[in-house]
Amino acid sequence: LGVGTVGTGVVKVLKKNGPDIERKIGRKLHLEGILVRDLNKKRAADIPRELLTDDPAAILDNPEIDIIVEVMGGIDKAFEYICRAFENKKSVVTANKDLVSVHGKQLFALAEKNNCNFFFEGSVAGGIPIIRPLKECLCGNSINRIMGIINGTTNYILTKMSCEGKEFEEALAEAKDLGYAEADPTADIEGLDAARKIAILASIAFNSRITYPEVYVEGITRITSYDIQYAEELGYTIKLLGIAKGSNGEVEVRVHPVLIPVSHPLAAVNNEFNAIFVEGDAVGETMFYGKGAGELPTASAVVGDIIAAARNINYGVPGKIGCTCFEHKRIKHITEIESKYYIRVSVKDQPGVLASIAGVFGNTDVSLASVIQTRLEGDLAELVLITHRVKEANLQDALSIIEGLSVVAAVSSVIRVEGSEE
Ligand code: NAP
Ligand code: HSE
Repeated sequence: LGVGTVGTGVVKVLKKNGPDIERKIGRKLHLEGILVRDLNKKRAADIPRELLTDDPAAILDNPEIDIIVEVMGGIDKAFEYICRAFENKKSVVTANKDLVSVHGKQLFALAEKNNCNFFFEGSVAGGIPIIRPLKECLCGNSINRIMGIINGTTNYILTKMSCEGKEFEEALAEAKDLGYAEADPTADIEGLDAARKIAILASIAFNSRITYPEVYVEGITRITSYDIQYAEELGYTIKLLGIAKGSNGEVEVRVHPVLIPVSHPLAAVNNEFNAIFVEGDAVGETMFYGKGAGELPTASAVVGDIIAAARNINYGVPGKIGCTCFEHKRIKHITEIESKYYIRVSVKDQPGVLASIAGVFGNTDVSLASVIQTRLEGDLAELVLITHRVKEANLQDALSIIEGLSVVAAVSSVIRVEGSEE
């Protein structure tokens, strides 16, 4: 279903590696049909035009077909077609994070009811194996936390701003030209794409269904070159992370920019690359790294799923690993989390200002780790503060008081600091 960027990659990989794949499965995979919207559209030379159809029934109701590959995107039609595929006893492979992060539960239930395979490795971090490693290789662990660079567009933008001094808009235009960004890049830059992916990962890691609307999200549009420069001076780099942590039967799931120490493995993940840092109680720290988007990297994950489904069908054991969300954990509100914070405040350059700001932090139980006065602009000075680990609710109380102080012109930036103190 669909032969755009990812679908074309799937056809190419099946064509190129078909003979080896056949030996690996023990049976040949036949491409039976391809659903598209527009039969007259120009296609890559690898696409067999005689297999194209714009009639969903020709695929979904075709008794010759065992495995449906949904790479058309969107929610409503994709949901309808996948449900119909399961009802017709077909296995499904999808790369659709929008769909899985909202309707995962219903899809798993229908797959199980019909004894079908349901695989979605390509939905998170493109070519990087992470869903199956979490569901299989690491499933003996209790997972403590996941921190992931899971959006290539924003990582590309932040890398270009940090390393080449580029402006946000210029870097975004490049990411669009290179094909990393979604059709509407708002989903990338506002953190929504990463939120869908961390919802899927957190559900698997913490055995409890977390849907996309339950993820706290901030994007990167408010990050300035000043923040990038100060972060660097303080020994940090700025990344957009998807973060999921579990403790005491509760989970926190969020996407936002963070300052991360340059010594942290995630700090070295640049450009369009993705990486997922997973900490388990047995394995300790692991990191999965690679290309998180694009034609062939995503096709790598999708074809791996097709092969897994084919093997299961071949051996008569479909649907071995179903839904693993057997718990119902409370999701913490953002005000309940604890973090260190970077805060940039523009203040009047006069005696007593620092004391009044420090006093507010002291009264709200926010302990400061460091304070530096940076550039001067007219009669305003800029303070950059790093807190110790504090409750977000306390920080928000402090900031609302500080914003009202007559000596404060603006709280220009507040960014959480991760990876340095757990
Ligand atoms: P795309 O390039 O826009 O291709 C979509 C394909 O689906 C097109 O062939 C289109 O037909 C067809 N299609 C869309 N709606 C349809 C409908 N209602 N009926 C029939 N055909 C329909 O999309 P993509 O980038 O390959 O992404 C596909 C999926 O993979 C999405 O869920 C996306 O989130 C996910 N994904 C993408 C990437 C990536 O790097 N692109 C990475 C990971 C996951 P026409 O060709 O006729 O228009
Ligand atoms: N727009 C996404 C990204 C593509 O930039 O990572 C893969 O989901």
